[in-house]
Amino acid sequence: MLKKYCFGEFVKTDAVVLDIKDEKNKECKDFIIKNNSIVFTLTSEDIVYGLGESVRGLNKRGWKYVSWCSDVTDHLEDTFSLYGAHNFLLIDGKQKLGLFFDTSEKITFDISYTKENELVVSMEHLNLDLYVIKNENSNEVIKEFRKLIGKPYLAPLFGFGYQQSRWSYFTKDEVLDLVSNYEKENIPLECVYLDIDYMEHYKDFTVDKEKFSNFKEFVYKLKEKNIHLVPIIDAGVKIEDGYDVCEEGLLNDYFVKKQDGTNFRAAVWPGLVYFPDFLKKDTRKWFGQKYKVLTDLGIDAFWNDMNEPAMFYTPERLKNTIDEISKLKDLSLDDMDLGVSGIVKGMALSLQNNLEDYKKMYHDIDGKLVCHENVHNIYGYNMTRAAKEELDIIRNQRTLLFSRASSIGAHRYGGIWTGDNRSYWSHIELNIKQMPNLNMCGFLYTGADLGGFGADTTEDLLLRWLEFGIFTPLMRNHSCNGTRRQELYLYDRVEDFRNIINLRYALIPYLYSEYLKSYHNDDLMFKPLSFEYEDDEIARTIEDQLLVGDSIMIAPIYKQNQNNRYVYLPEDMLMLRFRSNEDYDQEILNKGHHYITVKLNEVLIFVRKNKSLILTRPNKNVESLDMKSLKVISYLDSKYEYYLDDGISLDSNYNVYEIEVKDNNVVRCDDLTIIN
Ligand code: GLC
Repeated sequence: MLKKYCFGEFVKTDAVVLDIKDEKNKECKDFIIKNNSIVFTLTSEDIVYGLGESVRGLNKRGWKYVSWCSDVTDHLEDTFSLYGAHNFLLIDGKQKLGLFFDTSEKITFDISYTKENELVVSMEHLNLDLYVIKNENSNEVIKEFRKLIGKPYLAPLFGFGYQQSRWSYFTKDEVLDLVSNYEKENIPLECVYLDIDYMEHYKDFTVDKEKFSNFKEFVYKLKEKNIHLVPIIDAGVKIEDGYDVCEEGLLNDYFVKKQDGTNFRAAVWPGLVYFPDFLKKDTRKWFGQKYKVLTDLGIDAFWNDMNEPAMFYTPERLKNTIDEISKLKDLSLDDMDLGVSGIVKGMALSLQNNLEDYKKMYHDIDGKLVCHENVHNIYGYNMTRAAKEELDIIRNQRTLLFSRASSIGAHRYGGIWTGDNRSYWSHIELNIKQMPNLNMCGFLYTGADLGGFGADTTEDLLLRWLEFGIFTPLMRNHSCNGTRRQELYLYDRVEDFRNIINLRYALIPYLYSEYLKSYHNDDLMFKPLSFEYEDDEIARTIEDQLLVGDSIMIAPIYKQNQNNRYVYLPEDMLMLRFRSNEDYDQEILNKGHHYITVKLNEVLIFVRKNKSLILTRPNKNVESLDMKSLKVISYLDSKYEYYLDDGISLDSNYNVYEIEVKDNNVVRCDDLTIIN
């Protein structure tokens, strides 16, 4: 059952692709309206999933979350908002209820925070369409929701390879050096990222001619090795005379305005910028076509950043702050007490991403000026939409594309990464817990900065994080400038790193097949255990073990100096302990509680009963993988449906190959080759 209740008026998000009729004022027993809040009663057994990219647990109970796309470097337990606004919840209890709060405005979710058994969803004004989905089980609720919001972005197969990033690889030589180090160490490598320093003065759609001379030749040289370069594109356009993007934008009125009709200015990496008004169709078309500057040079992959949009300050606020601070200059040194330092610090901090500044931005929506505050959460979404819509026209094949800011709807246009995490063990745990919730909200091509973006990594953290990261569709190691380097060849345990990346490549047929299934069947690729073992009270509370696709369960290690972990098996399973794709042991474990040794270089995969895992021989890149030569590890008799498409066409015309195992023998494999 799917019902829609409309409240107030808001700028349409285009998140939903089905036309559902409004129940008008018909009473709904599932919620009550109190002032500007919608209140749902929970039972103490209910689990509340959802909210995609947000902090804390897989079960969101016990905190409040604010959907407001934010440029935040602190992903802490008390952080209210991250970069995404993913307003979907699934209440999993005796009844299964899906709730989608479709709005472009800020919205707050108090989930058992104020009152244990209440979910209170509030807004300044109730301007939203609420969709209520009821079905007999969680999987069906998700299917219905995902049908409502349309098919996710489909990544190219090469997007499943190992990707190395850093802010920044500053020159061509640095990139070539990196590539040759990976080659020397025989570690597969698929993509290398170009962070902001590849540009001329951080100007979108330019390439620094000195540091990256003969760029096209360089791109093709790497292409010959099947390595893809992934340049970053930021939302802000540098204000500079003679810079074509700036001038065209001004000429055609493509930028976000102030209320008086002049262009709004703020500072990001290039200094002062204008923000393209992505909510305008013409702007989207124009900006999206700009990617052609780079695709003409051979680029087939992009990441969109700072599109909340992030701003360091506005010139007005900076001036005002400097004026205010300079008023303090006559204070005697003895008066420079804590109070004064607090004021100065507060003023400096309030320069960045100030809500008052967002209120000064205006969009032209069908000729009407709309304050940015009301559409903030769909800004980044529309940047990705601009890119995807035009890249599809320009390239007529899949482009690797993902973004930082997003809201539901954006899942149709690109993937997302989870932003500026840190090299914290708790951020591996967060990554694990975010994956199913992101999938529920439609984001399938997603992952975190493996190894951690901020702070100094350690060898063991990087290895453990990669041991989880080998399962995430986007597998990118990225780090901030000034932090310890994270390239894998720099570490003593280079052999372990090689083995783990090889294992990822061996798993690509399975991962990609399960990814395609999630895409075509509106399913989750990462599932909480409760989705499959709904009557198992223990399984229902477990948050650090996940089902990945239909065949396997994983139980990553995310604590330092821990070579053992507790694992709960909701049924008998075949445990595989991998040291490399070739070197593994296996053991059948019974349903129940286990304490299992997992050394630093080991990864556990649990094959479910009557299911099988497929693996291929790893190779130096995705292009060289033989996706049709597979090794099959089956627990008892099984039938595996292997989904495969060409990995690059915009439409996924996939084939399903059946692999059947009986009495330890593969008895059917269609036209696949079975390897040992
Ligand atoms: C932002 C991005 C980060 C990037 C940096 C420089 O912080 O989130 O990934 O490296 O900007 O572009």
